[in-house]
Amino acid sequence: MFSSIRTKLIASYLILIVAVMLAASFFLLTMLRNYYHEYHADTMVGAASLVRDLVVSKLRETPDVVDISNQAEFVAKRHNVRILVTDDRQRVVGDSVRVDGLVGVTLNRREISDILSGNEIKSRSIQYSETSKQWVMQVTVPVVDQGKIIGTVFVSSSLSEIYNLQNNIKNYLIILTLLSIALAGLLGRYLAQRITDPIQLLTQAAEKMARGDLSQRVAVRTSDEIGRLTRQFNEMAKKLAESTRQLKDFVANASHEMRTPLTSLNILVKSLREYPLEAEEREEFLADIDKELERLIRLVENLLDLTRLDRLAKEDTMSVVDIVPTVANTLSMLQRRAEEKSITLEIRLPERASPVFAALHQIKQVVFNLVDNALKYTPAHGRVEVVLSEEGDCLKLSVSDNGVGIPEEHREKIFERFYRVDKARSRELGGTGLGLAIVAEIVKRHGGTIAVEDGPGGIGTTFIVTIPRYKLPPE
Ligand SMILES: Nc1ncnc2c1ncn2[C@@H]1O[C@H](COP(=O)(O)OP(=O)(O)OP(=O)(O)O)[C@@H](O)[C@H]1O
Ligand SMILES: [Mg+2]
Repeated sequence: MFSSIRTKLIASYLILIVAVMLAASFFLLTMLRNYYHEYHADTMVGAASLVRDLVVSKLRETPDVVDISNQAEFVAKRHNVRILVTDDRQRVVGDSVRVDGLVGVTLNRREISDILSGNEIKSRSIQYSETSKQWVMQVTVPVVDQGKIIGTVFVSSSLSEIYNLQNNIKNYLIILTLLSIALAGLLGRYLAQRITDPIQLLTQAAEKMARGDLSQRVAVRTSDEIGRLTRQFNEMAKKLAESTRQLKDFVANASHEMRTPLTSLNILVKSLREYPLEAEEREEFLADIDKELERLIRLVENLLDLTRLDRLAKEDTMSVVDIVPTVANTLSMLQRRAEEKSITLEIRLPERASPVFAALHQIKQVVFNLVDNALKYTPAHGRVEVVLSEEGDCLKLSVSDNGVGIPEEHREKIFERFYRVDKARSRELGGTGLGLAIVAEIVKRHGGTIAVEDGPGGIGTTFIVTIPRYKLPPE
């Protein structure tokens, strides 16, 4: 159930949040404590200085303990601290705490002796007090009279307030972190699901396609990378289904085309065997068999041509050539056919043409199939014209006739495999319906175009093929 993208996403969210919260808490708490310490120390130094100024005259002679203690208490209450005043021998001569105070006690503290010996001008320290079980801050300042240190003022204050506050903040931060972790977990799950769900759908669809169900489409819900991937997947599935359908149609059509001559052959051969025939009749039957066989051979040859065109890489067969001699050659082969049908075959070719990147045997096939059609679909005494010329960046070959023509609505389809305008007539003429499909495929391989128009004067048909001139590839 936990796909790995989801786990990774959630884990990275959690790591990020914990890291940020830890760093933020550390800085926040440290800053807060430092600020409070500074502020507190300043207040304590202020209180200490005040007491010092109040008691300096009283320390000169035998100190009046009650008076000094009163002064200390007055200041201490206002600042919520404890204040002790000592003479120059570390003896306490005033204490803001009146009951159980330390008056008369000698305070053996380093801070005080340091101040008295003049080593320090003021001292500040933080300690854990075992007696009151809490952290305290202490500040000591000297009492100076005419350049002589005659005592000290010692101020101490509990830090529990700030430490309590700090602990409260710490608890808040912990709760906040836990909340963020929970939220990040939920958010990560949600986000990860948005990513992994469509991937899962795609995977399922791809699995079904692999098992042969090409109708699979996945709903596109977003326009992000996943949406694009899904759209591309659907496009691919559509193309795959389409080309599979074409392939199936092709096989079905090809089989269908073969069945007719094969059935005829079957009947002819059986008749030959079963009925005693005159020599003349036998000859007729054999001629029919010959015709059907030829048609089959042509069909298979055309099919082979088509599959070869599909399979061969361009580079295997193509080179930079002048096609004029090949075109002329092919046309002279067809000249006899034209004469047999009393059709005028008019040819206009230049001496030579710009080189094109082409396969000559395929160019020959283009010319042959187009002129073959023109002769086939033009009645006797008609006229067929073949012109090769340069036009812009291309060579242009046009084959026109004044024959039966192709009705507008068929013009788009005649380049499809096995398509014939008049099936019966084409079959009678030995046509397979593959000639123009082969031409179109060859033209496509040469980067050219093919178009069909009315013949000259609106009668018959004109086919126009263009093939781009060869350009030196840029160095
Ligand atoms: N010059 C033309 N005049 C009239 N119809 C044409 C012409 N050329 C092609 N056609 C029509 O287009 C169809 C397809 O032509 P295509 O060359 O592919 O097949 P075919 O000539 O019937 O068979 P094949 O070329 O295999 O002998 C033809 O059956 C015919 O109906
Ligand atoms: Mg043809």
